[in-house]
Amino acid sequence: MLAAKNDNRREVKNLYFAIGVKHGDLIGSFCFWISNCLCCIIIVITMIEAEGRDFRHMKIFMDTANTNEIAELADWGIVYGVTTNPSLIAKTGRQQEQVIAEICRLIEGPVSAEVISTDCPGMLIEARSLASIAPNVVVKLPCTVEGLKAVRLLKKENVRTNVTLVFSLTQALLAVEAGASYVSPFIGRLDDIGEDGMKIVEDMVTIFRNYGYKAQIIAASIRDLNHVHRAMLAGVDIATIPTKIIREMIGHKLTDAGLKKFLEDYEESLSKANAGHKI
Ligand code: G3P
Repeated sequence: MLAAKNDNRREVKNLYFAIGVKHGDLIGSFCFWISNCLCCIIIVITMIEAEGRDFRHMKIFMDTANTNEIAELADWGIVYGVTTNPSLIAKTGRQQEQVIAEICRLIEGPVSAEVISTDCPGMLIEARSLASIAPNVVVKLPCTVEGLKAVRLLKKENVRTNVTLVFSLTQALLAVEAGASYVSPFIGRLDDIGEDGMKIVEDMVTIFRNYGYKAQIIAASIRDLNHVHRAMLAGVDIATIPTKIIREMIGHKLTDAGLKKFLEDYEESLSKANAGHKI
């Protein structure tokens, strides 16, 4: 009797053990698949975020309102966008709306057009009018209290903004917090007053990465190739570059000399071959 009871208990124990193993397997494989799915989701989110920030390449914008130059360089296939400002528009001697409309026909990417008003209500009126020119217009506003107020309101209307005349890290932070899509630190003008303009840009990149800000940094007021090199090393999203410097980016005396020699060598061998043929 006692032996039968013990046998029963053993069987029940074995049964519980078997159920435990079975459930353990199920739980194990469930956890395995859930962790795999989570990993995939994290990878996809990271890729989407990286795409949004565009950290993988430095886009080249032309810093000009000269439509002939824009049309010429657009054919090179390296121009992603354009930035203008009231001084650059003034050089064309034409109406801003006309110039911006023409640039937007030449360039598919973002085209920054700046407001002239200095008060928020005036900026809003101008911004809406500029934004209505083409879908790729980005409204450029100065980094002032009125400018930031306008940035906040324009974001609610889904109008993209570029906060310009940024000379400090705190200005950049406030611009992003207000909702700017782009922030433009001016390198050359900081150099002009004895500061290292590029250092501010480098620090800005670090800060934006630290906090995962989505706004893109446009390295502006670029005056030479060294600025372009340092902008690339800093990892800015965009460098807006005057046409003259973009032309300098492609040139190198060794490229010219090398090409000349290649063609000379080829011509020489061709003449020799032709001479031999004649003999
Ligand atoms: O994008 C800003 C730029 O147009 C200003 O350049 O040389 O006048 O300081 P710069």
